[in-house]
Amino acid sequence: MTSPSPTADDHGEVDTVTEVPVAIVGAGPAGLLLAHLLGRAGVETVAIDTRTREEIESTHRAGILEADAARTLVETGVSDRILREGDEHAGIELRFGGRAHRIDFQDLVGESVWLYPQTAVFVDLADARDRDGGTVHFGTSGTEVLDVESDRPRMRWTGPDGTRHEVRARYVVGADGSRSQCRELVPADHRTQHAREYPFAWFGIMAEAPKSAPELVYAHSEHGFALISQRTESVQRMYFQCDPDDDPAAWSDDRIWTTLQARVAGEDGFRLLEGPVLERTVLRFRSFVQEPMRWGSLLLAGDAAHTVPPTGARGLNLALHDVTVLAEVLVEALGGTDAALDDYQRRALRRVWRAQNFSYWMTQLLHAAPGGSSFDLRRQLGELDNVVSTRAGRTYLAEQYTGWPTRDTD
Ligand code: DHB
Repeated sequence: MTSPSPTADDHGEVDTVTEVPVAIVGAGPAGLLLAHLLGRAGVETVAIDTRTREEIESTHRAGILEADAARTLVETGVSDRILREGDEHAGIELRFGGRAHRIDFQDLVGESVWLYPQTAVFVDLADARDRDGGTVHFGTSGTEVLDVESDRPRMRWTGPDGTRHEVRARYVVGADGSRSQCRELVPADHRTQHAREYPFAWFGIMAEAPKSAPELVYAHSEHGFALISQRTESVQRMYFQCDPDDDPAAWSDDRIWTTLQARVAGEDGFRLLEGPVLERTVLRFRSFVQEPMRWGSLLLAGDAAHTVPPTGARGLNLALHDVTVLAEVLVEALGGTDAALDDYQRRALRRVWRAQNFSYWMTQLLHAAPGGSSFDLRRQLGELDNVVSTRAGRTYLAEQYTGWPTRDTD
């Protein structure tokens, strides 16, 4: 319901006022899946994002969806494109000591993961919102979230045409990513931020080349970490550990390929298939959790509340899990049981901390700490050997990589 008459308060005048039960700041995968799930339950939402749809679609992000997240997309009617265009991966390869060791997920835990880039997940969700008549505004500016300590919070923004809008809601969800403005609405003396920095970053490339391997290769070497991933038959995604201050423009194609080849080289003669580097970026990362995830009428979800290092590809999966739980408890809360929301943080955080541990563990297992000693390197090789040489070790990795069944983290 939109009222045409302008209204003003101490935050200034707005041109339109709308009322919906849930306002969502952030229209990435977390915000859009939440809007989709609430829409299916008959709950109307408005989602906004400062980025344009084209900007989100052209930002490369991680590529792995765990089985439960893929099932959610298909079974809740977002799209079944993942089944047609995604690649089911039944395992990964760990490379260390110059040799390959396969971790067979299907054999160990009866699950697979899907190689299906985050941008494709976003496109499917944005298309589903269009199809279902959901309200999403991209390219917004001047976002304000007001009165979250009351039960009448408001979200305000300016549209690309300069019109100032207000949505009055019962709840506001902050799904506004790792540089969240919503998480700052939890007063500093009421929030705890747990963080860990890493002394390295990832150099990510898209290259025009055939696949070098059928599955993902996570490589440990004395020169540092490398990850060989795929996108299509002719475009590949690869990463290697670099210095956080590296300038991507300073790396020639030659230097990139020499670095990657050195990190995967081994007695089995494995070599990457090379080609022109289409894109290069340095990705900085950290481990981060902010608590609480609820403050009054504000709920935080996904990267706004927690980020993980990219090793093991947990970030998107965690965000999708958050909003799956959140949709459930918001429907209960809107039905009159506000206390249902207290359960959100407990259910979300249990999985978040398990994933924090896994992402941290995979990162420290595979990366070379700058200035590390020969002891550090050989200890890592010992740990990798422990992981691959027993079924218990391989199962430990497989369970975490494919994601825990929701019932195990509830
Ligand atoms: C990709 C990214 C990751 O961080 C990861 O662990 C696996 C795959 C990717 O972009 O394909």
